[in-house]
Amino acid sequence: MQLKFPQGFLWGSATAAHQIEGNNTNSDWWQWENSPQRLSELQKQNKNLPKNLEDYKSGIACDSYNRYEEDFDVAKSLNQNAHRLSIEWARIEPFQGEFDQEQIEHYRKVLKALRARGIKTFVTLHHFTNPVWFMEIGGWTKHQNLALFLRYAQKVLTELKDDIDFVCVINEPNVYAVLSYWFGMWPPQKKNYFLSRKIQQNMLEAHIKVYQLCKILKFPFEVGSAYHIRLIQIEGLFGWLEPWIQSILTKYIYKTAKYSDFIGINYYTRTLLVQRLFPFFFGVTKEKINVTDFNWEIYPKGLYLILKDLKQYKKPIYITENGIADAADHKRAEYIKTHLTAVHQAIDEGVDVRGYLHWSLLDNFEWAAGYTMKFGLVEIDRQNNLKRIVRESANYYAEICKNNYLETETK
Ligand code: BGC
Repeated sequence: MQLKFPQGFLWGSATAAHQIEGNNTNSDWWQWENSPQRLSELQKQNKNLPKNLEDYKSGIACDSYNRYEEDFDVAKSLNQNAHRLSIEWARIEPFQGEFDQEQIEHYRKVLKALRARGIKTFVTLHHFTNPVWFMEIGGWTKHQNLALFLRYAQKVLTELKDDIDFVCVINEPNVYAVLSYWFGMWPPQKKNYFLSRKIQQNMLEAHIKVYQLCKILKFPFEVGSAYHIRLIQIEGLFGWLEPWIQSILTKYIYKTAKYSDFIGINYYTRTLLVQRLFPFFFGVTKEKINVTDFNWEIYPKGLYLILKDLKQYKKPIYITENGIADAADHKRAEYIKTHLTAVHQAIDEGVDVRGYLHWSLLDNFEWAAGYTMKFGLVEIDRQNNLKRIVRESANYYAEICKNNYLETETK
């Protein structure tokens, strides 16, 4: 049976600057990856499992800063008509108040290269990384610093507006706030719940301010942000708490929906909360559930449930990320198929989903996991001059992009 998607549905993939471009030397992540503290932490974790420390430095990444035309040729050959990328603030404004016009021209060329291939552009302004100078003056912890982000946003958007179709102001404010300021896993490795809440609030406010600015300046593109939504489920005795917890976790979407032309959602997995809190009794193990290389459960129904929940905001929705770490490429095609079936079911039931951007086009620098996790439709052979090798699952996805429908056995 054919599951048809609405006419004009956007099909593509997503990336982020620091993860693919290479040599992002003025950013906080670069500084952290190369710091003695980070390297000694990795060495300590090394005891049982020897690690190649180079795998944990972004270095040249996929060299997409130089090879973007080649990457877009691949995307085009895979029948993609939309692409999400991010602009690197640390390149545009390497020193406070000094904008680098050459870098702006670089991104203009990048966006034009997509447009020339008939590919619509989704541009993220902040995807986890920050200029070093911004962090030195307190980064997102200081409310007065929002004005600096706004100034950067106004500069790039004014310059590049004619080549942009959609703007994602901030990528996953909740993930940045939690991993960098509460769990201490990402730079600047703070462990302060209250600070992490403040960061998230400041980022949401930045989203609203950028949205308002775009409307005042009558920019021609649509504005939203990309939110990471993890379905939280509580099975058994405490199941009644589930809607309450989920609504707390998505409250921030409620706050920004009015100030968004669309809602972007990044969906990967669900968390079974009780099992997570008491693994001794409920141990969620590889044997029990179908997981990715990252040990994340594959749970397509979660995407359906989240989309149904988002219907209340009455906004167009784009899946701005959805993908799987799967080095062997054994599960990716099925992952795509089952998640798109979930998207289709939501559309059938009246949810206004208008596009799907798979994470990711290329194997890339997976943050704290470095190059060990492979999310690409296209493999990057790091031993062979970063050669791009199209995976089997990419061809499967390309057929769907071409046909605008998904072939399934049953519905
Ligand atoms: C992020 C990406 C990341 C992906 C897989 C998302 O949360 O936006 O940058 O690579 O998840 O972990």
